[in-house]
Amino acid sequence: MATAKLDNITKVYDNGFTAVSNLSLQLADGEFLVLVGPSGCGKSTALRMIAGLEEMSEGDLYVGDRLLNDIEPKNRDIAMVFQNYALYPQMTVAQNIGFPLKLRGVKGTERKRQVHHAAEILQLTEQLSKKPGQLSGGQRQRVAMGRAIVRQPALFLMDEPLSNLDAKLRVQMRADIADIQKNLGVTTFYVTHDQVEAMTMGDRVAVIKDGLLQQVDEPEKLYARPENVFVAAFMGSPSMNLYEANLSLHNEKFKVHLGDQSISIPTRLTERHTTLGNYDQQTIVVGIRPEDFEDAALAPTHPDDQQLTVTVSGREALGAETLIHFPLNAPSIDTGDPDALDELASIASGRCTARFDANSKARIGEQIRTNVTVENMHFFDRETGLVI
Ligand SMILES: Nc1ncnc2c1ncn2[C@@H]1O[C@H](COP(=O)(O)OP(=O)(O)OP(=O)(O)O)[C@@H](O)[C@H]1O
Ligand SMILES: [Mg+2]
Repeated sequence: MATAKLDNITKVYDNGFTAVSNLSLQLADGEFLVLVGPSGCGKSTALRMIAGLEEMSEGDLYVGDRLLNDIEPKNRDIAMVFQNYALYPQMTVAQNIGFPLKLRGVKGTERKRQVHHAAEILQLTEQLSKKPGQLSGGQRQRVAMGRAIVRQPALFLMDEPLSNLDAKLRVQMRADIADIQKNLGVTTFYVTHDQVEAMTMGDRVAVIKDGLLQQVDEPEKLYARPENVFVAAFMGSPSMNLYEANLSLHNEKFKVHLGDQSISIPTRLTERHTTLGNYDQQTIVVGIRPEDFEDAALAPTHPDDQQLTVTVSGREALGAETLIHFPLNAPSIDTGDPDALDELASIASGRCTARFDANSKARIGEQIRTNVTVENMHFFDRETGLVI
């Protein structure tokens, strides 16, 4: 167990491509840190540099106070779990889990004890004599975890370990891995492109795009206070609705003009946006999360200058809530997330998504009023994409 520190780590591949730029992160002892970002943003490269499988072009790497830059992978005291768990098919589960111990020369009875202990933690006791071919995907993934656990490393590295599992199993394993990690207390650096996984598993989440760190924070803070448009759009599903809007300020109120409609925000509600007043009469980017809309018919006391009139274009009843889609006649924003095909489609149509209470009677084709929780609105500079 140890702290870990990445200090300005950079990777420039032989072809001149910079996959990771000046990445600096600190992991507390026992912390579960998730690195999340779209495909190709440099997550695996970062992880492989920590493991020593890829050379760093620049920067320093510490685990505890030990500088690892020039230490061979096998001497780094780091265990890695990959997406392709690569078990030995001819070995039993017990032999697979015990393999790192065997390599280390741990004797038979002690090895058996440690393997059984790991199997117990991972609920694999019944499977110990089976071969990997006789296991489910989730069980195989747990065997791969077991192989990492028995090494009792200073640091766990996990690269999308759940991406080969079906959706239901992934949810289950998500909780299992988080529990196991907490019980073992091993500092863990976990990579995924799935923002739900990041939000639910991480003590803190680091968002990366094009090799550049965007923001590191606890999941709730990242969600509530994204520092730029990319993080705002990437974290949360359905995504935050982002539009260009004109801002005007008079009589202690900001007015946000979205297309031909406007929303009023009392200046007292915008205390944390201390520089918003500088954007009077300018175009900014406004973000509204789907849950910050509500069917006005269900909450009729909401101030009517904090509402929009919209025509419902789509409706998805999900049981606990209903997603309502409608066009907003304001320019929407391309956040630069290449994975967000969904988002691109909705941008093309100017579609806005709201999460209404399941009791909403709003139907496709109907014109309705929707409340906006204005104190939760997000504001960004249009040029820099940074939060205002
Ligand atoms: N050996 C290499 N030479 C040149 N470029 C590379 C090399 N390996 C990876 N890259 C590039 O570096 C970038 C980052 O790759 P990396 O595998 O770290 O992405 P990732 O975030 O893990 O993506 P994914 O979510 O798809 O696994 C990609 O654009 C990739 O094409
Ligand atoms: Mg990867």
